[in-house]
Amino acid sequence: MKVLILGGTGSIGTAVTQELIRRGHDVTGLSRSESSDRKLIAMGARPLRGDLRFPGDWAREAAAMDGLIQLAATFDEDMGQADTAAITAILRQAALHPERLRLIYTGGCWLYGATGRRVADETTPMRPIKPFAWMQKNANAVLASSAVSAAVIHPAMVYHQNGGVFDRYLQAARNAKPFEIWGSIATRWPLVQREDLARAYCLLLENPQLSGHFNASAEAGVQVADITGEIARRHGHDGSYVVRSLKHALIKYGDWAEGPTLDQQMGSDKLRRLTGWQPQFPSFREAQF
Ligand SMILES: NC(=O)c1ccc[n+]([C@@H]2O[C@H](COP(=O)([O-])OP(=O)(O)OC[C@H]3O[C@@H](n4cnc5c(N)ncnc54)[C@H](OP(=O)(O)O)[C@@H]3O)[C@@H](O)[C@H]2O)c1
Repeated sequence: MKVLILGGTGSIGTAVTQELIRRGHDVTGLSRSESSDRKLIAMGARPLRGDLRFPGDWAREAAAMDGLIQLAATFDEDMGQADTAAITAILRQAALHPERLRLIYTGGCWLYGATGRRVADETTPMRPIKPFAWMQKNANAVLASSAVSAAVIHPAMVYHQNGGVFDRYLQAARNAKPFEIWGSIATRWPLVQREDLARAYCLLLENPQLSGHFNASAEAGVQVADITGEIARRHGHDGSYVVRSLKHALIKYGDWAEGPTLDQQMGSDKLRRLTGWQPQFPSFREAQF
């Protein structure tokens, strides 16, 4: 397939770009700088210069592709605005195009809010944390559009060899500092390893008959205590930690910091059943980090 990836140089996007190329797709990546051009070329993708915020420059080219994966995020105050502008322009251009574009939109586990004892599936009502409320709206817009064949993927918390969501804890371990826990050490996180997640994106892209929401987690909910315990064991840390309140985390890091404090469980039976997806790392303990 001819595929355009937005955010193909990011943490998740790098693995998705690599997996797309491994599977023989013809990959173009939206790029906003020379250094991103170079990263994409090194992976075997063609850079297309453009900014998520100014989709007028590239949306027509996007709509002429067979597939599009949205994994770009500015993580700035305009994150929702930029995503909305891009999605609106893509849907508008796709409506003018005779071939139906396959579109994979990225949501996330934080759209479910805290689930507590319930394991969220795709029928669970969404209660997104405030800074990501726009994402639910854009996911629904994509699914409601007849101009595209769309699926929305909701990644769990994504870790990889160099950290990902484990980053802060790995840094603490390296610097022999106590782990900083936001909220409670009993908080559960749904987890997925990055390369496993990349395969889920590709399976959804390649199966245009599949639409709707798809959760992508290898483990429904792992306590932060188990994650930090494993990191301490592997990296010679004494396991000590300090707990910071939600309020402290919000003031110090911004309103997105509510995400890691959510006690969540999220299952992925639908994705596994309909695509045959099987994570190679069913437990984070089997992966490198
Ligand atoms: N990481 C997780 O655990 C997780 C879990 C669930 C959902 N998600 C969602 O997945 C998405 C990607 O997350 P990530 O962790 O991979 O993010 P990331 O590492 O920060 O990557 C963001 C990507 O967006 C690109 N980008 C940023 N601003 C742009 C702009 N103005 N124009 C064009 N491209 C721009 C970046 O390009 P440059 O390389 O040029 O900066 C980069 O490729 C986000 O929507 C996030 O909410 C992430």
